Amino acid sequence: MASYDLVVIGTGPGGYVCAIRAAQLGMKVAVVEKNPTLGGTCLNVGCMPSKALLYASELLEEAGHSFAKMGIGIAQPKLDLPTMMKFKQEGIDGNVKGVEFLMKKNKIDVLAGTGRVLGAGRVEVKAADGKTTVAETRSIVIATGSDVARLKGIEIDEKRIVSSTGALSLDRVPDKLVVVGAGVIGLELGSVWRRLGAKVTVVEFLDRILPGMDGEIVKQFQRILEKQGVAFKLGAKVTGVDTSGKTLKVQVEAAAGGNAETLEADVVLVAIGRVPFTDGLGLKEAGIALDARGRIQTDHHFATSVAGIYAIGDVIAGPMLAHKAEDEGVAVAEILAGQAGHVNYDVIPGVVYTTPEVASVGRTEEDLKDANIAYTVGKFPFTANGRSKVNQTTEGMVKILADASTDRVLGVHIIGREAGEMIHEAAVLMEFGGSAEDLARTCHAHPTRSEAIKEAAMGVAKRSIHM
Ligand code: FAD
Ligand code: NAI
Repeated sequence: MASYDLVVIGTGPGGYVCAIRAAQLGMKVAVVEKNPTLGGTCLNVGCMPSKALLYASELLEEAGHSFAKMGIGIAQPKLDLPTMMKFKQEGIDGNVKGVEFLMKKNKIDVLAGTGRVLGAGRVEVKAADGKTTVAETRSIVIATGSDVARLKGIEIDEKRIVSSTGALSLDRVPDKLVVVGAGVIGLELGSVWRRLGAKVTVVEFLDRILPGMDGEIVKQFQRILEKQGVAFKLGAKVTGVDTSGKTLKVQVEAAAGGNAETLEADVVLVAIGRVPFTDGLGLKEAGIALDARGRIQTDHHFATSVAGIYAIGDVIAGPMLAHKAEDEGVAVAEILAGQAGHVNYDVIPGVVYTTPEVASVGRTEEDLKDANIAYTVGKFPFTANGRSKVNQTTEGMVKILADASTDRVLGVHIIGREAGEMIHEAAVLMEFGGSAEDLARTCHAHPTRSEAIKEAAMGVAKRSIHM
């Protein structure tokens, strides 16, 4: 029986990063993975393949729509979907191999199979051929991630009714795509297929898109997406999909009931959220407690209800984001090594990788109102930013929310190209408890889009220069 300091179940960004940090700290580590490849949802069917398709489809659209105005004459670009999918797969393979390399480099054993917790200190690994082995270990970290949330009565076949996984691998562009859920997946993958030629309709239960993000920013985002050709049915729910004919018949009604209508679709993408994945882990038998939403319950040190067993990432509470899982992986490894591992949940950026991008860190205006916190707002539109003007990419704005009495930055929200890269100066500032004044007095290179952040920070004190 192999014996370890730490066995991590799951090799997504939470699990593999935790394993590496623990190995760096001198622990003997193994990871257990049931999939043929390492890297979890993020690398195989999540962050990375979606970003490859977003990138490729964006360039196709740029080539078709923006090149001519810059004096670049090319024939109308044509989509070669199999090659685009090959491009996506090469990206996945490269990253997955990278994780394999990192496991070897850090002398981490990879135990292929499904892990089951037999209690503190023991993990059973069942290989694909049914053979089982048991690993002994001082500590266990569960990092088994999440799975697609399903809609009652609507069966996902990953061909015509797809989850994000199927939507990343369609073999032809649907004429009509109905997306259920205006969250991050719906808007990112809806954008991909719209750019490739599908007519996209998004059906959202709430009366707004992207719940949780700043309301003013997402209103502007919705208008931009509509201009791009995405149709929205807000305050509406899908009650069924008739699959009997060649074309799918999607039944939609008002969220509160009534006002039924039928939409036609070639493909329906169900993107209504994700649920923690704990199947087959033996949690009940091991006495590991779950919360009301089926997530593994942990304390602020990631400890479960059973001593020696920890959990991180999508399988516990908090935003289902790869970087949140990674940071928790580092923190729990450091805690196991006797250090003060910690994650600051107030400063976790979130990015929607569409064009334009939407990026956000900290509190929204709605949050601050609900919490009765007095705040000041500084805003700056990209229409007034020189670099955006010369590139003719002026959509969007920066919005900074600062504490009215201390000027401490509480939230930053950006809609615009490259917003996902720009947000990090705000995150660093907020980690250091910085003020809008600090940001406003930090010299920003000219001409950059980031100058819009400095201008918005100056706007908090009503002293923006270029507006
Ligand atoms: P996962 O990545 O889900 O990994 C869990 C691993 O555990 C899997 O490999 C699974 O096979 C394995 N496993 C499960 N049970 C067992 C078992 N019993 N034994 C052995 N192995 C097991 N997040 C971002 O931050 N940015 C993005 O751009 C982004 N894009 C996304 C796009 C899509 C389409 C999707 C679906 C998600 C996206 N996410 C994104 C979310 C991100 O993928 C997750 O937050 C992240 O993968 C969670 O990491 P994790 O380590 O907790 O779990
Ligand atoms: P989500 O939680 O972001 O959005 C789901 C949307 O579906 C919500 O707007 C919700 O109101 C709506 N909805 C729920 N039930 C519905 C129903 N019956 N009918 C119509 N609408 C309904 O979930 P999503 O988009 O599936 O993504 C899952 C997770 O993956 C998210 O937590 C997200 O953080 C992560 N992710 C992150 C990305 C990123 O960081 N760029 C990209 C993709 C996913």
